[in-house]
Amino acid sequence: MTEMLVRSPAPLPATLGDYAEQAAERWSPSVHAFFDGGAGDEHTLRANHEAWQRLALWPRVLGDLRGGNTATRIAGRPVAHPIFLAPVALQRLAHPEGELASALAAAAQSAGYILSTQSSVPMETVARAVLGDPGHGPLWFQLYWQPERAHNLALLRRAETAGFEALVLTVDAPVQGARDAERRHPLRLPAGVSAVHLADLPPPGTPPPADTYCAGLPAQAPGWDDVAWLRAESRLPIWLKGVLHPADARQAAQAGVAGLIVSNHGGRTLDTVPPTAQALPRIAEAVGDALPLLVDGGIRRGTDVLKALALGAHGVLVGRPVAHALAVAGAPGVAHMIRLLRDELEMAMALTGCRGVQEATPALLGY
Ligand code: FNR
Ligand code: LAC
Repeated sequence: MTEMLVRSPAPLPATLGDYAEQAAERWSPSVHAFFDGGAGDEHTLRANHEAWQRLALWPRVLGDLRGGNTATRIAGRPVAHPIFLAPVALQRLAHPEGELASALAAAAQSAGYILSTQSSVPMETVARAVLGDPGHGPLWFQLYWQPERAHNLALLRRAETAGFEALVLTVDAPVQGARDAERRHPLRLPAGVSAVHLADLPPPGTPPPADTYCAGLPAQAPGWDDVAWLRAESRLPIWLKGVLHPADARQAAQAGVAGLIVSNHGGRTLDTVPPTAQALPRIAEAVGDALPLLVDGGIRRGTDVLKALALGAHGVLVGRPVAHALAVAGAPGVAHMIRLLRDELEMAMALTGCRGVQEATPALLGY
């Protein structure tokens, strides 16, 4: 009887989609546009998710699944499972504790964590919290190339000193894409929330004064020579994030990077570029075993993770779900979100006959 009288305000989220719905209900139009919006007409944003869903799994039955688990290695580092939290800027817009909360959750769930250059919490604070948990997953720092090499070097040295394990150079956003939703609902940062690492630096991606948009850009967009320079300067392995074209993937392998993150920035940079489920197998074919691959974009289900592994990824990143879970329930929400995805992955593995992530091969997709 009492149960019927007590109504909980919102059902406990059971999926990443539930977190997305509940977060959207809490957000102002401008915060919603920032976290959930995409570039242009959002074709790529939608296609990312749909492309994973469209792939069919071909399960095998009656296999021996004893001892099955999600453990694997990412570039040689052992991990409990292949899920990373993607770099997502300004997480204090979603929750007062921002990146500190999501990083603690990642560490508690042994997920990889990639901190954005545009973090709203200092990298040293995040690193201290993560490294204090003995079970933490990989801790990486994402670099947005700054026009001055000295500024990149300063960020790199800070990340090395703080204890980050790798540097992720994002290469798909030398300028801001046409983010129409954000232009309709411009975001004004509340007092106390900012990209703390860039406090004294010029904002990235803002073209300097010039006659045309493109005229001012080459001076500040990174190139392959900058990748070589960064590699020479860095004690950390360097990953490139935002590669879609197999020819770029081959060039990256020659440039000696540690790995690639196949990504279209969650459909936030250029609309109508291919969904990552389509780019991934082409890149896997182009680089063979030369480079480890991660992939992101629209991954919301354990079955999506399994399909990414089957297409050649060693691991996956989720972006927006971090902001959704943070907004709904802070650090416990993010930890729960990671757990849901990992549990779904294990279910999908068991129900397709995969005892380990290495058994996810193209055969699982009927090839
Ligand atoms: C991002 N992304 C991103 N990428 C990056 O390299 N540096 C960054 O600071 C950010 N910031 C950022 C903010 C927000 C609000 C979003 C939604 C995304 C891209 C992110 O790392 C990742 O590539 C995508 O989010 C993956 O797609 P899904 O999982 O969001 O569909
Ligand atoms: C974005 C930038 C911060 O996607 O990467 O909003």
